[in-house]
Amino acid sequence: MKSILITGCNRGLGLGLVKHLVQLPQPPENIFATCRNTNKAKELTSLAEKSKNVHIIEIDLTDTKNYDKIIEIVKDKTGDAGLNVLFNNAGTSTKFTRLKLVKEEQLTETFFVNTVVPIMLTKACLPLLKTAMNNFKDKSKMSIHKSAVINMTSILGSIADNNQGGHYPYRCSKAALNAATKSMSIDLKEDGILVACLHPGWVRTDMGGSTAPMDVDTSITNILNTLNSLTEEHMGCFIQYDGKILPW
Ligand SMILES: NC(=O)c1ccc[n+]([C@@H]2O[C@H](COP(=O)([O-])OP(=O)(O)OC[C@H]3O[C@@H](n4cnc5c(N)ncnc54)[C@H](OP(=O)(O)O)[C@@H]3O)[C@@H](O)[C@H]2O)c1
Repeated sequence: MKSILITGCNRGLGLGLVKHLVQLPQPPENIFATCRNTNKAKELTSLAEKSKNVHIIEIDLTDTKNYDKIIEIVKDKTGDAGLNVLFNNAGTSTKFTRLKLVKEEQLTETFFVNTVVPIMLTKACLPLLKTAMNNFKDKSKMSIHKSAVINMTSILGSIADNNQGGHYPYRCSKAALNAATKSMSIDLKEDGILVACLHPGWVRTDMGGSTAPMDVDTSITNILNTLNSLTEEHMGCFIQYDGKILPW
């Protein structure tokens, strides 16, 4: 792919994605990496100083009115090539998520970041994604090298796999993101834009915690291999980091 926009790149899996992408033998020409506060994103900032294809966009994604800023920066750098991939990675989870303890504001805040933000950002990026697709004649063959939306979800958003209960804010927000992914895959099929949601595994990040079994590098290596293998057959699928299809 020539260009990718990734949200939540100051730490965790977002930062891991940017690190791996710049090290590819043929890295994207433009990697747009969002973060909320550049001053707190030391690793990302030093990466952008060394790699001129990394462009940091400082934004709190809950400010949906500011998405024009993202679009202008991407448009300015990519022109007629458009944006190949939007990777909705930023996400949040809360404590105290059992039924007796869950709070209304935890539900609404988590829903906003994990569901509303990816939908509204995809909406804002559509013209850029379509511009990328216009460079390809055959819209029936899909690939992340043409145009794609990847939503970072979680196995905790699987209704079929839920046998432990709890996690109301996170589970509901990711199940809703999965539903949005399915709708996007139907709505964007005609445009040839590939849409899928991806579970990264249980990974050692601030969110995953120190006891998670997988490190960021292993998850991201697998994710990049899986992304490269995606075709129209994966349209609207719920996919694990290693390519396994997960139950809704
Ligand atoms: N780690 C796991 O085991 C695991 C498992 C399943 C799914 N996931 C999913 O993978 C994605 C990345 O998770 P992670 O493990 O890397 O988590 P993380 O280390 O906690 O990082 C979360 C990222 O999202 C950003 N973010 C949160 N709220 C934001 C907002 N309002 N505006 C802009 N950015 C915001 C954070 O930025 P700030 O630093 O500014 O808060 C941070 O960059 C999430 O969608 C998560 O649900 C993770």
